[in-house]
Amino acid sequence: MSEQGGRQGGAGAPIDPRQWEASRSAPATEDTRARYTEGEEVPDNIREQTREGEDPYQWHSGRTREHGSTDAVEFIDVKKSFGRNTILNGLNLGLPDNQISMILGPSGTGKSVCIKHMVGLLYPDEGDVLVHGESVPNMADDELFEMRKKFGVLFQDGALFGSMNVFDNTAFPLRQHTEKGEEEIAEIVNRRLQEVGLTSARDKMPNELSGGMRKRAGFARALVLDPDIVLFDEPDSGLDPVRTALLCELIQEVHAENGGAYCVITHDIMSARRVADYIAILWKGRIVESGPASELFNSDNQFVRQFLSGEAQGPLGME
Ligand SMILES: Nc1ncnc2c1ncn2[C@@H]1O[C@H](COP(=O)(O)OP(=O)(O)OP(=O)(O)O)[C@@H](O)[C@H]1O
Ligand SMILES: [Mg+2]
Repeated sequence: MSEQGGRQGGAGAPIDPRQWEASRSAPATEDTRARYTEGEEVPDNIREQTREGEDPYQWHSGRTREHGSTDAVEFIDVKKSFGRNTILNGLNLGLPDNQISMILGPSGTGKSVCIKHMVGLLYPDEGDVLVHGESVPNMADDELFEMRKKFGVLFQDGALFGSMNVFDNTAFPLRQHTEKGEEEIAEIVNRRLQEVGLTSARDKMPNELSGGMRKRAGFARALVLDPDIVLFDEPDSGLDPVRTALLCELIQEVHAENGGAYCVITHDIMSARRVADYIAILWKGRIVESGPASELFNSDNQFVRQFLSGEAQGPLGME
């Protein structure tokens, strides 16, 4: 991640696998691009989130602490705006393989937008997004289709099909993306439903399920294609603390069983403490700091400390 500043991403730039190899063993660094540089134009909507007279990126060191793994997903100098609203403003981020990563950040900072870039539902205006070293924005439609099979995604609301029962919802990706017969599909689906504790709910319709059950069904469905990368957009939203804890445990167990890169987006610092191996904090379109969870929870960066302890006092206000 850290050695790639000079690489041109985006429009048509081919990816040199040797550069990718080099990036895999890059040492920990401070990413100076995360800071404000003299004369840089700061978009109005980011300026508005900054107190009068302050440097909008004063807490952003972009510090990337070594995670000891390769990057499954990388964002390189990604910029993304919707009209005059700049969401990602030069984002650099690597998500390690075989670990549970969490992207944390205040509401509306672009966490869901990040997830959509990973699976090619949104494209960067500038910069590049790599999955296993391959540029997502440069993929042809058929490559994108293949690439998406690497992913299991649990969207913010579980997104089950209301007209299908739990079994059929879970079987859907297998029927859609594979040539497997019904017998094999049933075997896979039953195994995944058992894993998430929904065996007895397999014939229920989504509207008969509790919020927690719906999340677990979404999780089972996200796993049926044996994905290399699993994305969870706020798996804990709308759950009570006990169900959140159980879901976190489930995520850890399933990850220990299956491996792969898990990326969890959450507001919940307790969840982060429980399950994160790696944490990246997103604010104002850039990473404030990222690294192994244990190190971030001990960061001396005031913003990181405030955010991870959920305190009202500190650099982050309501502005
Ligand atoms: N397709 C879109 N068109 C226009 N604006 C969008 C679009 N998608 C996201 N945005 C804007 O981008 C910003 C970031 O949205 P995003 O959903 O990524 O936030 P988030 O960090 O996931 O927030 P939350 O924690 O509340 O889920 C918001 O201001 C949102 O309005
Ligand atoms: Mg979101």
